[in-house]
Amino acid sequence: MNPNVTDLGVILLAAGQGTRMKSSLPKVLHPLGGKSLFLHALGTAQRLEPKKVAVIIGHGAGAVADAYDRNDVVWITQEKQLGTGHAVLCAKDAFSDFSGDILILSGDVPLIKEQTLAAMIKTHRESQAVLTLLTACLETPGGYGRILRGVDGEIIGSVEEKDATEAQKRIREINAGIYVVAVRFLFAALAAVKNDNRQKEYYLPDIVAIGLAQREKIETVRVADPCEMRGINTREELALMEKILQERINRKWMDGGVTLKDPQTTYIDDGVTIGKDTVIGPNTHLLGDTVVGERCRIDGSAYLTDVKIGDEVHVKFAVVAASSRIESGAIIGPFAHLRPGNSLGRNVHIGNFVEAKAATIGEGTKANHLTYLGDCTIGQGTNIGAGTITCNYDGFKKYRTTIGDRVQVGSDTTLVAPISLGDDVYVATATTVRQDVPPGALVFNPREERVREGWTERKRKKMKENNK
Ligand code: UD1
Ligand code: CA
Repeated sequence: MNPNVTDLGVILLAAGQGTRMKSSLPKVLHPLGGKSLFLHALGTAQRLEPKKVAVIIGHGAGAVADAYDRNDVVWITQEKQLGTGHAVLCAKDAFSDFSGDILILSGDVPLIKEQTLAAMIKTHRESQAVLTLLTACLETPGGYGRILRGVDGEIIGSVEEKDATEAQKRIREINAGIYVVAVRFLFAALAAVKNDNRQKEYYLPDIVAIGLAQREKIETVRVADPCEMRGINTREELALMEKILQERINRKWMDGGVTLKDPQTTYIDDGVTIGKDTVIGPNTHLLGDTVVGERCRIDGSAYLTDVKIGDEVHVKFAVVAASSRIESGAIIGPFAHLRPGNSLGRNVHIGNFVEAKAATIGEGTKANHLTYLGDCTIGQGTNIGAGTITCNYDGFKKYRTTIGDRVQVGSDTTLVAPISLGDDVYVATATTVRQDVPPGALVFNPREERVREGWTERKRKKMKENNK
């Protein structure tokens, strides 16, 4: 048999509720490394370029299907969760025109590696087995099905912990819940699976005994690193896996030339990319589809979600940013808040206690202190003084502020939107601007300034007398 001509199909099991999570969210939708649990195994399976992928859904079926944004899988609903064997059987019709091998994966086993699956498929095909199981040896095998072996070490079954005898529970080799099966054998065997066990479920591992009874060849492949086959059934296991995944991701970026000052407190989602020679300080969260360029500095305590950052950007201490673009050379923070929709040009400075939302800011423009920039477009080389506020909301609608190039906005300015300030405008300090200002103009609020000498003393005296 030429291993290259056998088709590969995938069935991913994701219909269970995950009772042990004690959650109203289906287990496979719990986030791990910033993406839904089942998407990890699904993504890994896709990299094997299978001919067909079926995902078995049940609990929260609609939400589970919505979490996947491509349309290259078949969704199959398992109305009642009668067990893993029943779940796979639900895919029978979807594979009626298929003649190769099927890789069966669990939606709750996220860290399985592509190489491990490829090795399983290779062993399966080279040995011409009908069924190949992935196994692992664990110090604490509790909760998993146990692999039963005969006198010659050959596999003779897989028993669920709930059905196991005390002696079987002491077996440390477990069933990882990942299988490669010849389709011609799979669905025929599943039809023979019964639910006469402690859980009254149709167990997928029962096809081992059925295969043996039919004198079919069954292989096992033992995973080298048991971490990658760990399943998630509880919140504690979820936290453990998050830690394992973080270590994997952090190691990948350090290998790629990124300095992590404190990997233990650096949280990088699966979808993030980071350029080399970037230095990341403690307590940094890089989430979603965040992209960080080369030679950037992120001082620490940053929480960046879906942010695209150019090269040589300095994100100072304590910056929160979401869905924004920051071009090369910009300096952000400390203590800045970029809400969604900002586009900050090259060398822009956003300083402390500045909040920006849906702001497009041109090259070299600075807003260094205590400012709110919402729904605005600002040109290049403009300076926004301390305490400038774009008044973008009148309680009913949001309005835009437009500011040109080389504008000097004095401190304590309020810009009442909708409003437009031309290029080279000069806004005097403490101005409330309510009308459009043409290029090159000065805008100020005329006001008479008065000084009353001796006023404080007179006031204090009066207050004292009133309190007697
Ligand atoms: C299963 C295996 C066990 C193995 C372990 C490895 C069975 C009976 N047991 O146990 O031998 O050691 O995985 O992680 O297969 N699911 C459905 N429909 C159902 C039931 C389950 O889609 O009717 C899905 C779940 O959503 C989950 C996967 O199948 O993604 C595994 O189910 P789970 O209940 O977690 O099985 P385990 O008890 O972990
Ligand atoms: Ca499980």
